[in-house]
Amino acid sequence: MTAQLIDGNALSKQLRAEVAQRAAALRARGITPGLAVVLVGENPASQVYVRNKVKACHDAGLHSVLEQYPAGLTEAELLARVEALNKDPAIHGILVQLPLPAHIDAQKVIEAIAPAKDVDGFHVASAGALMTGMPGFWPCTPYGCMKMLESIGYDLRGKHAVVIGRSNIVGKPMALMLLQKNATVSICHSATKDLKGMTLQADVIVAAVGKQKVLTADMVKPGAVVIDVGMNRNAEGKLCGDVDFEGVREVAGYITPVPGGVGPMTITMLLVNTLEAAERL
Ligand code: GUN
Repeated sequence: MTAQLIDGNALSKQLRAEVAQRAAALRARGITPGLAVVLVGENPASQVYVRNKVKACHDAGLHSVLEQYPAGLTEAELLARVEALNKDPAIHGILVQLPLPAHIDAQKVIEAIAPAKDVDGFHVASAGALMTGMPGFWPCTPYGCMKMLESIGYDLRGKHAVVIGRSNIVGKPMALMLLQKNATVSICHSATKDLKGMTLQADVIVAAVGKQKVLTADMVKPGAVVIDVGMNRNAEGKLCGDVDFEGVREVAGYITPVPGGVGPMTITMLLVNTLEAAERL
């Protein structure tokens, strides 16, 4: 059996068209949803990410400002910028691109963002809202993974979902979202003793480690749904995920490719969150 692909580009296109429609409706009421993206330093990967985020906003009819600062910006200066954006009525969402330079306490900066503008969903108030099922912003990458499962009409109730990776940005919120949909959830990580024993039981596997070939065909139950959050470069410099795609696609029922899978969904859900931040006003 060859797995069906879950196409993140196609799903993103559809969801971004919906965002554009809703943004147009808001503009007709005199509100243009606005996202501020703050980048500190010259990390080349971050520069590409933020440019893509700003462009996606413009393409969907959202207002977006990119604030770029040199790596020497102090923590106090950054906190003052966040405070100003919190008060700026043209800005509904604030995203401070990570990683930040080592002299800045990233968590302190995230906690300075007003929860109502925390479209990344990284604030403790957002994390708490997700944990308790209260309204709040969900982190964009796991939220995008949930949309991908929804797009294939997958009912998670009673299914065993195995998340590989326990980061605050992906693994932990992913597990909570799956739980909210009534899956039985296991979180595996670097100290897990028998990863293969766990993944072989899984109906859904989300790989979010940041390492190539964490998941190979022998670790997957036939027909399982495999979501690959990884963004790695292989020996030839080619973009690849955490999943051995060529092998696993022969066993899985559904699989997300890299590139063209979860990647575009992350930015799409950022647009959705920014739009909702503006709609909630
Ligand atoms: N760095 C890598 N991914 C992300 C993200 O989703 N949000 C922010 N703020 N920084 C990141």
